[in-house]
Order: sequence, then C-alpha cells, then structure tokens
Amino acid sequence: MARLRLPSLVDIHVHLREPGGEHKEDFESGTRAALAGGITAVLAMPNTQPPLIDSESLALAERAAAARACCDYGIYLGACAQNIAFAAELAPRVCGLKCYLNDTFGTLRIDADDLRTLREHFERFPKDRPIVCHAEGQLAASAILCAHLANRSVHIAHVSRADEIALIRAAKERGIAVTCEVCPQHLFLSLADVPRLGKGRAEVRPRLATPADQAALWANMAYIDCIATDHAPHLLREKDSDSPPPGFPLLEVSFALMLTAVHEGRLSLEDVLERMAHAPRRLFGIPEPEQTWIEVDTDLTWQPRGAEMFSRAAWTPFEGWTLRGRVESVTLRGAEVYRGGISYAVAGTGRNLAAR
Ligand code: DOR
Ligand code: ZN
Repeated sequence: MARLRLPSLVDIHVHLREPGGEHKEDFESGTRAALAGGITAVLAMPNTQPPLIDSESLALAERAAAARACCDYGIYLGACAQNIAFAAELAPRVCGLKCYLNDTFGTLRIDADDLRTLREHFERFPKDRPIVCHAEGQLAASAILCAHLANRSVHIAHVSRADEIALIRAAKERGIAVTCEVCPQHLFLSLADVPRLGKGRAEVRPRLATPADQAALWANMAYIDCIATDHAPHLLREKDSDSPPPGFPLLEVSFALMLTAVHEGRLSLEDVLERMAHAPRRLFGIPEPEQTWIEVDTDLTWQPRGAEMFSRAAWTPFEGWTLRGRVESVTLRGAEVYRGGISYAVAGTGRNLAAR
C-alpha cells in the first residue's frame, strides 16, 4: 500500500455540543475535526442543552449547523416520554431517532422501566427511518425485542461487551433486523488502560470493558455493521475534575487507528471502508456526494497529539501512540477542504442531509 484515493467516510455517532456546550465543541470545530479524520458527513447526537426533543430545540441545532458546519451533517431527534405524540412528525428533519436507555452525559433518557415509551416510539417512528439505541447489557435485548415486535429494525450504538455482541449475533442469525456499531475506544482500549489514562480521562459510556470483551469484538467483526466514533468532546479540566464527564474525542484518530489495524493484519482495508463509509451510507440513506474523495498515505507513521487537534477538546486517549496510515487530503464536492494538517473548509458550506 502507499498513497490511495478512497471514498470519504461517514461517522454516524458524534456529539457536537450545539446548542449549549460550545466551549467543548461546536459545529465548526467538530466538523473541521471530522474532515481531518477523512469524514465528510457526521450524524450529530441530541443530548445537547437543551436536548433536541421538539421542533424548537431542533431548530437551534439546525440553525447552528447551517451557519457553521464545514462538512455534511444529519441531526438526531432524542426520544423521551414527552415527545411520543409528535416525534414521527419531525422525522423528515432528522437522520434518525436516538433512544438513551442508560445513564450517560446529559439528561435525555427513556427510563429503563418505561417500556411503554420505548414501544410507542418504535411503533410510531417511520419504519424506514433509523432508530438508534444506547442500550447496554439486558437493555440491548429489550431494544431488539421491542423493535422486532414493532416490525422494524433497530441499530444498537457502541457495542462494547462480549455478551452484547453475542446477543446481536444470535439475533442476526435468526433473521431479526438489528444492526450495530462499535467504537474505536472499545476496540483499542480496555480496563487495562485505565491506570495509564487516569480515572477521569478513562471515563466513557459504555465503560471500557475487559480485555476478553475487547477480544470478542474483534472476533465478531463479521457481525459489526459500522465503526462509529461516539466522538464525545470534553475539556481536560473537566475530565480531570472531581466529576469527570464521560467520553473521548475521536474524530481525528479513528480512521488512523483502523488503518493501523489493517497493517497489523487484523482486518482488510475493504473491511474498514465497508464499516466506515459504505454501510453507514446504506443504513442512513446518505448518497456519496459527487467529486468527493480522500487521499490516504497508508504507510505514514505518526503520533496523535491532542494539542494539534481541531476538536476543542484538544486531547486524545491515544496521545503519543504510533499509528500507521494518515489522511493527507479531503476533497468535498470538488473543493479541497483539508490537506496536510490545514483546514480549508468554509464554515456554513456543509449540507443538512435531511434537506433532500
Ligand atoms: O462517553 C459518552 N459520552 N457516552 C455517551 O453515551 C455520551 C457521551 C457524551 O455526550 O459525552
Ligand atoms: Zn454518544
């Protein structure tokens, strides 16, 4: 391998913090970070402040993104007990519905006991539009069954444990409509990394799991539809505080981590492109823009440095790792928007994928 021209990537799970958390990230800093990682479309999560659960809150994110996004984007609607009646009406404005069944950053939640809310959303949200669930452990089983009973598919976010991937594999083998994503942190880090990272910096949801869980994810790569980052920017002073928020910024290193794994013979480049470009486009119905590609030097070794990142988080759990393979340039609709560490994208030129 050496210098290759490849299709641009799509990240179906990012937190861009607008509205309400702009000191951590905004649509401009986050989408510049995405482009530096070879990603030309991001799907932004609704656990903002306020959460994106109705037309008014959604409009805040839509306006921020229209003004500032440097790459294409979709915005998720958050599911909750209060928006059962009108979530479906908002479907044309969003890339999908996100259901938080576990505790994590922010307040957006469907209570784990609130089976009715989950089932109502699954029944009502358009069946041809994705529903993504943060559903760990037994809650993954709950989400899969509720989707099945509603005669629709469900996508399980950031699968991190052996039991979860075994459940999804079993469901897939029975023909149940479930897809899933795994994040780089769960493929490349485990509980064994917590002492090195420090407790606050290692906080992430789902938590870093055991080396056996990590191995199970690699062993079941055939059942993993997508690799998504769950890019969750928080500042170092927040991560190092007494109440560290969970999450890692990952947009700028995820593809390089996967390319490094290709070098190590853990999977093929096609396996990576399927999970970071093709499957995300298929699942969310995102067409490839014309005249769009990335150039990658698959041999280049480099060390990620938080201080050099476009993300306002400006740190990485992979600081100083030696990675092999790096995005050299990104061309979006004929315009070179990134090359060699410099971002040339114009804020506000990213398109809302829902406006089709
Ligand atoms: O680690 C995480 N951070 N997991 C989540 O589910 C949310 C995210 C965030 O928004 O910071
Ligand atoms: Zn997330």
